Amino acid sequence: MKDGHGRVIDYLRISLTDRCNFRCIYCMPAEGVCMMGHDEILRIEEIEAIARVATRIGIRSVRLTGGEPLVRKGVVGLVRSLRNMPGIENISMTTNGVLLPQMAGELKEAGLSRVNISLDTLDPEQFEFITRVGKIESTLKGIDAALEAGFNPVKINAVTVRSLNQDFLAFAKLSIDRPLHVRFIEYMPVGESTGADGTGWGKQDVVPSEELLQIINERAVAQGLPELQPTDGSHKPLGWGPARYFEFPGAQGTVGFISPLSRHFCSECNRLRLTADGKLRPCLFSDREIDVRAALREGGEEAVYDCFLKALDLKPDEHHDKVGTERKMSQIGG
Ligand code: GTP
Ligand code: 5AD
Ligand code: SF4
Repeated sequence: MKDGHGRVIDYLRISLTDRCNFRCIYCMPAEGVCMMGHDEILRIEEIEAIARVATRIGIRSVRLTGGEPLVRKGVVGLVRSLRNMPGIENISMTTNGVLLPQMAGELKEAGLSRVNISLDTLDPEQFEFITRVGKIESTLKGIDAALEAGFNPVKINAVTVRSLNQDFLAFAKLSIDRPLHVRFIEYMPVGESTGADGTGWGKQDVVPSEELLQIINERAVAQGLPELQPTDGSHKPLGWGPARYFEFPGAQGTVGFISPLSRHFCSECNRLRLTADGKLRPCLFSDREIDVRAALREGGEEAVYDCFLKALDLKPDEHHDKVGTERKMSQIGG
């Protein structure tokens, strides 16, 4: 179905929990967020009911997010029932990878199509600084497990924050020897994101994708590598998101850029979001929400259908560079 601005909406991001085993500086405060109560969180059967209704408005692709989706009990069963739901063509997940060594096999078997793994640095100390509690080996092992389980594509999400001084070329080179699709994401002002200096999100911390592409190419050439080339259609990894892809000639994977701030992709927006406590969010940057949990509990699936129609109608034309949202990123799922 189309929204009020003529965009086809066929992608639903479902946040399964606001909990996480990390505390990334740009995503949640050090002390964690005030956790949602048990009754507030949608039950797995409720998520299934909402997803079933979503297929009626034309949702074909579903992404499970968090917090960290793999800490949610029942996640494997949910994947299995989504797999068997007529209308759902692709089920993906965004995860920090920590639990993949234990879970990748059963998730694949249940029908998960692909995973995006968040990793912002290859430096162990910096990893501990960014995640506040994580160890880099845990996410690196998660990436290995995802490849071994046969997920395709496997994408790596790296949020770029200027003051962190990440080694962007080292990251881009991860795409050469293994089929990994590295994506650099411009740091977004969602919730109370925190920069490397401990203060809030600031424009100075955004590395615009065009500048980043130039930085990577200059450093690559200095190391005797070729420059990144736009990826031709056949090598572009499967996805429903807004990334633009490049590749080093002959590389197994690609390098993508997600540029919500420097190159608005709102006109191509194809998605709605469902929060773990059952609110439909027409836009990442807008706190306008529709209470689909109450609708389901009080009025059943027909009431949920009306919520989806309302969400399509309420989707704004663009985010108008809004800074900050009431919810933290971990409570929306990106
Ligand atoms: P693919 O289907 O693999 O392309 O997924 P995706 O890129 O949509 O999902 P992922 O969860 O990996 O998101 C990557 C980054 O893109 C995250 O930082 C998201 O917050 C950001 N992102 C995804 N959708 C939107 C959107 O509609 N608006 C904005 N501003 N950012 C988005
Ligand atoms: N800006 C950009 N991306 C972010 N993510 C979390 N917080 C932010 C932010 N403030 C990323 C995570 C994850 C994805 C869902 O969103 O790293 O990969
Ligand atoms: Fe957890 Fe992901 Fe947020 Fe980091 S970005 S705290 S891994 S939900």
